[in-house]
Amino acid sequence: MLGLTPDELLTTTRTVRKRLDFDRAVSRELISDCLEVAFQAPNGSNMNTWRWLVIDDPAKVAAAAGIYNGGLDDYIASLGDAVGANYSGARVPRSEQIGESVAYLRENMHRSPALLLPLFSGRSEGANVFFQASLWGSILQATWSFFLALRARGLGSAWTTGHLFREKEMAELLEIPSDGYTQVGLFPIAYTRGTEFKPAYRKPVSEVVGWNRFEA
Ligand SMILES: Cc1cc2nc3c(=O)[nH]c(=O)nc-3n(C[C@H](O)[C@H](O)[C@H](O)COP(=O)(O)O)c2cc1C
Repeated sequence: MLGLTPDELLTTTRTVRKRLDFDRAVSRELISDCLEVAFQAPNGSNMNTWRWLVIDDPAKVAAAAGIYNGGLDDYIASLGDAVGANYSGARVPRSEQIGESVAYLRENMHRSPALLLPLFSGRSEGANVFFQASLWGSILQATWSFFLALRARGLGSAWTTGHLFREKEMAELLEIPSDGYTQVGLFPIAYTRGTEFKPAYRKPVSEVVGWNRFEA
């Protein structure tokens, strides 16, 4: 354990791409420990209907990384004219570094010691907002807790959703039942090179918080 304070843990658990150590093995025991911690997160009616796939067979990691890359190609193609300087993300501080870092992960995802792919039972398409919130709200907290548990132990990950453009391809690779499950994302698991991370840019409280009413 790194001995971070709660606030240090919460403010320095970053999306790590360039500083993932792809050459250092991560044990199943360590991943299981992090999952046990993550499972303490809330979930609707405590039904635990989630499933958690850990991919550590190098051939499957490589195949999943290939699907991720294809999904990102689909995403970029879907942006049409909104790419480059027109992309709204281009106005975010350090956007160039983010682009470079995303490209690095694309090139190296296949070298991840392991990947995590959480699933929830059910589909949110066509559901009302209550059901959508219940489905996603019963998996996202635990997934983020997994990131925090990794960070507390000197490991890191990157939240990625790119492969979801090719969700069916991933389902075939991992033998996920063809109906009824939703994939949350694809998360590399690796030790980080160095353990110092800093808080990142976020809009300040004064810009995004309304007190007692919506404030534009
Ligand atoms: C819903 C979601 C989807 C994301 N998808 C990707 C992705 O497909 N590939 C990637 O490299 N990063 C992805 N990211 C990471 C973000 O780019 C990253 O969180 C953001 O740049 C802020 O950096 P930070 O997490 O270190 O604060 C995603 C993050 C979120 C929350």
